[in-house]
Amino acid sequence: MKVSVSTGTLSGTKADIGILPMFEDDYNSTIQSLHDDIPALSLAIDSGDFKAAKRTQTLLYTGIKSMPRVVLIGLGAKKDASTKELRNAAGRALKACAAVKAKKVTFVLPDTSLAISEAAQALAEGALLSLYKFDKYMSKEANSYKQPEAVTFIHTDKKAVADAKKAIETAEIISEGVTIARDLANAPNNEIYPETLAKKAQELGKAAGVKVTVLNKTKIASLKMGGLLAVNQGSVRPPVFIVMEYNGTKATEKPIVLVGKGVTFDSGGISIKPGAGMSDMRLDMHGSATVIGTIVAAAKLKIKRNIVALVPATENMPDGGAYVPGDVIRLMNGKTVEIDNTDAEGRLILGDALTYADRFKPQAVIDFATLTGACMIALGGVTSGLMGNNDALKAHIKAAADTTAEYVCELPLYEEYEEQIKSDYADVKNSGGRPAGAITAGLFLQHFIGDYSWAHIDIAGTGIQAKATDINPKGGPGVGVRMMINMLQNW
Ligand code: BES
Ligand code: MN
Ligand code: ZN
Repeated sequence: MKVSVSTGTLSGTKADIGILPMFEDDYNSTIQSLHDDIPALSLAIDSGDFKAAKRTQTLLYTGIKSMPRVVLIGLGAKKDASTKELRNAAGRALKACAAVKAKKVTFVLPDTSLAISEAAQALAEGALLSLYKFDKYMSKEANSYKQPEAVTFIHTDKKAVADAKKAIETAEIISEGVTIARDLANAPNNEIYPETLAKKAQELGKAAGVKVTVLNKTKIASLKMGGLLAVNQGSVRPPVFIVMEYNGTKATEKPIVLVGKGVTFDSGGISIKPGAGMSDMRLDMHGSATVIGTIVAAAKLKIKRNIVALVPATENMPDGGAYVPGDVIRLMNGKTVEIDNTDAEGRLILGDALTYADRFKPQAVIDFATLTGACMIALGGVTSGLMGNNDALKAHIKAAADTTAEYVCELPLYEEYEEQIKSDYADVKNSGGRPAGAITAGLFLQHFIGDYSWAHIDIAGTGIQAKATDINPKGGPGVGVRMMINMLQNW
């Protein structure tokens, strides 16, 4: 879908459908101007059926050939305008456009209480993100209508159009990053497994000016990444460790290192999961999808920071050669781990990645992982779990998360919980049982970090959606990309 912006009025542009956002406060003046522009709209509004209340919308027919349909979207009171409401409203409006199989859409940019650039970015993001479907494997869908070809945002004022232009380009790049993450996350394991994930990272990196290095099993073994090797033991597909580097500023600036869990399928291994719902575990590499989507978008936006993305990738499978409960393994930083449950695999591969991260002398390290069912039970699909060792870093993440409405909530890493992951015969145990399962996983990770500020974001609930929302699809929503870009831009 192509998005653009130009000066114009609703009746003065030609499209299959127009989108007209309205505030309760401006209701009367909007009706006035509509009367001159498209008379039928003011008649319909005069009926009193539509009052521009928050989260309402209605489709009207105009009797005008160049603009046969208009969706009115209600935004409530002007002072309540927020990027979240605009993004979601644009998402709902685009769904109405798709329902009538519109090809060309004209979207009126409203004057809100926000800066025009902020409003335009939010509306464009909502428009670009809302119609995503992972349907490439559906043969009957192949040639049918998917989404509009073009959305043109319009405003009568030249200056407003100029301000919106840059914001809409930014929205396009961010939405591409989210879409990359969605495509990777939703792909089944027979498409995206470690080596094909690495290949995708290389292709995407090349197109965006991001350097990509893929460490193979031999290299992983020589680095003594015992966690990644142990989890991979039961798999016929070899592991990879992907390193992506983008330099947006001088080499002397310390990088921000992003780490993403890349378990392309998590069967649980020998501690095998129940069959029902196991297919969701093709999404167990959403963390890796998030960091790949983020670094690609950051590079295309030319963000003035140095960024590294690290992805340890493997399947977790049962097999005669698989690692088993009771095994003791040694991770890259030398610490030994008692395997209590082979389904607690994400923390083992992340442990090695967090140790590897130290060689970049990072300003901060942030990891994303579908790490624990406990986090999903605690916070559901709306909020990710946030843990870490640095309050300033956590505050930056929280501020970005609130802005993009990809919420985070802090869980405490109190040392008292360490008791649960004490082992009788190794330095640490990979499972702390059911109580506080998200926290004991975070504490486990902390054993393997280097001398840096670190935050861990558990996206087990937010990365696997049971149903679609205004802007997100069912399945993998690409959570975290918008949040991270916002943080990298504003920190
Ligand atoms: N990938 C899962 C966590 C998960 C579960 C993500 C459900 C999304 C939805 C992870 O590898 C896992 O299996 N964790 C175990 C840990 C336990 C064995 C200590 C869990 O949460 O049950
Ligand atoms: Mn698991
Ligand atoms: Zn897992």
